[in-house]
Amino acid sequence: MEKKKLIAGNWKMNGSLAANEALVRALAAGMGPAGCIAAVCVPAPYLAQLQALRAGSALELGAQDVSAHEQGAYTGELSAAMLKEFGVRYAIVGHSERRQYHGETDALVADKAKAALAHGITPICCVGETLAEREAGKTEEVVKRQLAAVIHTNGHCISEIAVAYEPVWAIGTGKTATPEQAQQVHAVLRAQLKAATPHAERVHILYGGSMNAANAASLLAQPDIDGGLIGGASLKAADFLTIIAAAR
Ligand code: 13P
Repeated sequence: MEKKKLIAGNWKMNGSLAANEALVRALAAGMGPAGCIAAVCVPAPYLAQLQALRAGSALELGAQDVSAHEQGAYTGELSAAMLKEFGVRYAIVGHSERRQYHGETDALVADKAKAALAHGITPICCVGETLAEREAGKTEEVVKRQLAAVIHTNGHCISEIAVAYEPVWAIGTGKTATPEQAQQVHAVLRAQLKAATPHAERVHILYGGSMNAANAASLLAQPDIDGGLIGGASLKAADFLTIIAAAR
């Protein structure tokens, strides 16, 4: 049986109690019977609110980051065990904004994925090249290096992760990778997973970067695009619902 696609919204640092409530109520009302897995990755202070709001709906809950550590003197960090207490099923790790603004390395991202897996949370491991790297012909080299670190650290658990290919030049810019450009990279990532596990087909490889209501269907039609990680368009109920519908 073909696996269901995964559509995950990354709200980034957006939202308020009132706005979240309106958005989630609209999503729950409009989602209908689940033809795909739909999730929202929300700012941590809102996890409790979301846990209550999503009750009875098919909407899954995600976090935007997780600590590589179990517990202890790590001011400001959030452990996988804490996230799990709020019903979190997914945690984004290694988003390019965290790599860029918070100095996260491939090794740290791999450790974060491991911490999530240890608590039954699926890490959505982000990889992606900058515009300069693409123009220098280094796209494959970069994404393979980023994924290799996660594979190295997580060994036989690797079939339990999700991957998100997010070309940095496409994030929040309105410039989307063409379906062919994205598929080309997704095929490279799939092959790399296949070399590491016999269960590589199980892994959701998501595309992210200006995915929207208009371009989602053509991206999701590609053989190795198993879903999307959506920023801006996940904040608008109608747009996110259109993307969810395109993933059925
Ligand atoms: P946009 O959809 O706003 O380009 O953001 C993509 C992203 O970074 C999702 O994690």
